[in-house]
Amino acid sequence: MTVRLRPAMASLPAYVAGRKSPGAVVLASNESPYGLLPAVAATIGRLTSGVSRYPDMTATGLVEAIATYHGVAPEQVAVGAGSVEVVGQIASAVIDSGDEVVFGWRAFEAYPIITTVAGGTSVKVPLRDHVHDLDAMAAAITRRTRLVIVCNPNNPTGTAVGAELSAFVEQIPDDVLVVIDEAYHHYADPAVVPDALLAFRDRPNVVVTRTFSKAFALAGLRVGYCIGASEIVTAVRKTQVPFSVSGLAQQCAIAALGDEDEVRRRCALTVAERERTAAVLRELGYDVPASQANFVWLPVGDDAAPFAEHCAGDDVLVRPFAGEGVRVTTGLPEENDRFLTLAESWSRRPLS
Ligand SMILES: Cc1ncc(COP(=O)(O)O)c(C=O)c1O
Repeated sequence: MTVRLRPAMASLPAYVAGRKSPGAVVLASNESPYGLLPAVAATIGRLTSGVSRYPDMTATGLVEAIATYHGVAPEQVAVGAGSVEVVGQIASAVIDSGDEVVFGWRAFEAYPIITTVAGGTSVKVPLRDHVHDLDAMAAAITRRTRLVIVCNPNNPTGTAVGAELSAFVEQIPDDVLVVIDEAYHHYADPAVVPDALLAFRDRPNVVVTRTFSKAFALAGLRVGYCIGASEIVTAVRKTQVPFSVSGLAQQCAIAALGDEDEVRRRCALTVAERERTAAVLRELGYDVPASQANFVWLPVGDDAAPFAEHCAGDDVLVRPFAGEGVRVTTGLPEENDRFLTLAESWSRRPLS
């Protein structure tokens, strides 16, 4: 007799992590290229001996620091081991077997995995011109819908929806939860992309997720959080794996919140480099949708995998989505130049 797994496991897609290779230029995982924030490096030096003990399970200090940073009550903040876990906690809190989760596609590849693991059904609404089609998403909501996820800016296209998000949220029934995943918020132009924490502060069915993995350069320590109405946050806290955010991660995230000037400075560098990269790519003839994140999207279709191999051949790792396109994280200027040289040689390759 063999152990019986849930039937859904057979079709569960595996999360594909960006490639890593010693010495390579890694532009495949949307990480910060600048290393630890100075305040975080100092915190790690001080705290290493504490890792022999369990951390504060409720992450009180971190929750309070996040609440102060955003001007909300601590009861409105829940944390998890990365915002991917927080989205999973949210799904666990609202999804029952067969419930529907509506999201644009393609968006963050963890959404269908999280949905299936929670026992739900993914309703993938195709993007229009690489941007969330909010009208189609609203039309996709049924009586079975319990959760709607808007990835803004969107991974992997980098595109964002603007003021039209408000009218969309207004249309969502009060008993359906809307998650606005703002993992890339710091790289977005505030004149174009709404800050959902400000725009939807008073909407009890909106939860906003953020991460320390991108602009705060803490991807390896695993901290993310959500902000929403306290009734929802209480449920999201219940579905967290106990102690999933280590003490070191909690303290480093607090230190990172205090290094805001350095975070802003680095983000400005990344945005300038992103725009430079996109401009050169467009001159080379690539279609590059406007990005509001720390990466650009090249919708090269069937060329995605061979393009990525072409780059990997010179130790530059980018993230292909077979048959669709390639996502290229914005790195340091010299790293971006290495990539652009490869993009140029690819565009000039002889037609076979
Ligand atoms: C849109 C989006 N949300 C969430 C995450 C998860 O980030 P983390 O779990 O590292 O906080 C990512 C990571 O790539 C992402 O692209």
